[in-house]
Amino acid sequence: MPAMTAVDADAPAGAGTPAEAVGPLLRGVTVLRRLTEAGGTLSPSALERATGLARSTVDRITGTLGRMGYVRLDGRDVVLTPRVMELGNAYLAALRLPALLDARADTLADELDESVSLAVADLDGVRFIHQATRRRALSVSFRIGDLLPAERTAPGALFATEWTEADWTRWRERRAQDARDASFPAVPPRADPTAAPCSPPPSPDSFAQRVERARRDGWAVDDQLIEPGLVAVSVPVRDPGTGRVACVASVVSHTSRHSAADLRTSLLPRLRTAVTAMETDLRTAPAPEPGPAPAGLATWTTASKHELGRDFVESLARGLTVLTAFGEGRAAPSLTEVARATGLSRATARRALLTHEHLGLVAAHPDRTYTLTPRVLDLGFPALSRTTLPRLAEPHLRALADTAGEPTALAVLTSDGKEIQYTAGAGTSRVLTVQISVGTRLPATATSLGRVLLADTTAPLSPTLTEVRSQGYALVDEELESGLRSIAVPVRDRAGRTVAALNVSTHAARRTLRDVVADLLPALHATAAHIQQDLHTASRFTHVPPS
Ligand code: PHB
Repeated sequence: MPAMTAVDADAPAGAGTPAEAVGPLLRGVTVLRRLTEAGGTLSPSALERATGLARSTVDRITGTLGRMGYVRLDGRDVVLTPRVMELGNAYLAALRLPALLDARADTLADELDESVSLAVADLDGVRFIHQATRRRALSVSFRIGDLLPAERTAPGALFATEWTEADWTRWRERRAQDARDASFPAVPPRADPTAAPCSPPPSPDSFAQRVERARRDGWAVDDQLIEPGLVAVSVPVRDPGTGRVACVASVVSHTSRHSAADLRTSLLPRLRTAVTAMETDLRTAPAPEPGPAPAGLATWTTASKHELGRDFVESLARGLTVLTAFGEGRAAPSLTEVARATGLSRATARRALLTHEHLGLVAAHPDRTYTLTPRVLDLGFPALSRTTLPRLAEPHLRALADTAGEPTALAVLTSDGKEIQYTAGAGTSRVLTVQISVGTRLPATATSLGRVLLADTTAPLSPTLTEVRSQGYALVDEELESGLRSIAVPVRDRAGRTVAALNVSTHAARRTLRDVVADLLPALHATAAHIQQDLHTASRFTHVPPS
């Protein structure tokens, strides 16, 4: 039956599906993985083909994921939303390495003016947990969550210094089954091994030789293993407790800037200094504070089931939320702790954990604790890890324009603080409407958007801006243009700083000033809250540019 084949393909090779595995959870994870591989968007019929599931099953799963806020429907397409990043965030928070090391990686990237990454081992692959990227014309740059074949990277050679015989066997089997790296969507495929070679293909033992060199040197290079021009040098960051490789820090460059031979003299010394500092940070980090566990899950899923009936697959929703029971200070919970954190019965939590273990998302340990694996990042993370504020705001602007029947816009302040610039907008089909073109600049003080943005700056505020700040919104009446009324509220980042402003415009003939506040302000606040929720989830471990 094709349905089972496609879903089973998501479990690690050789693992038969355990009898107690939760079927809808297996299928839901498959849907999330296929959406991620496709870049975040698929039509329901493309999902049917990619998963081998029946249309009615695809519809129920996407309906449930929609209710969880993990996907939305855009026309007929199913689209991953930033909210799904809470799954990868749970892994990254539990791992703690990004929280402890990202800032040092960013500083090193600034210092060298080169991209710097942090990667962890994922079976016989390498997965990025941080990217401090320099955007250049000539560069590939990977996303947080991308998986690369170990043998085509510098970090892979360092991780493989700790491989067991079983790891080498797994690697050889994968190479035999997937000679072109088709199972690694983030990397360009290898040349067809059956075609006439322009350059000799890497011999199977050359990776073993590079691993031996990495073991001897304590560092490794990637001389264009992924694609022509890309070079990297890597150093392991060791766990202070176990001495094992916790993650690998890499500096990535291009042959137009550095040859592979030259990386050793030009970049390696400063990379090593940064890694020493990272290891000190790991040694001296205070024990993590447990973050808040998800609340009210059981109540929420029961209510959703009552409301949506057959279209809500409760076991899928419960199973996915088990992943969010992990986090900072909850890196290795027991079954009892998972059940308590989620509000699920022990039996339900146990079956969900067993299913996740089968899928390679959770590891079970002899001391009866569980940890998340880097594979959790396959559930949406790379597809969304390069989002921007305008992009994540867009569907919320659309929804607001549709319900309010008025145009809405998002804007930021220009660097001199004198103007605003529209970064996103949604219009209406009215004849008399405000035209919003992304990129348009307007004087900041004359616009509701500008006043909201200026009210959050540290300069002494005018009485008007002081009032905007205290009331939390700006209302501008016919100042920019006769007949135009608009009302704006701030959009704040995780630290509470105003990073953008959101407004709704109307015509004086359509609404009195009082109506503007009474009718539009609540919806505006609700929309800002939705945008902020997405922004805060997406920016926990990735940089989300405000424009
Ligand atoms: C990276 O993009 O960070 C990267 C790429 C290839 C490597 C190492 C790091 O070998």
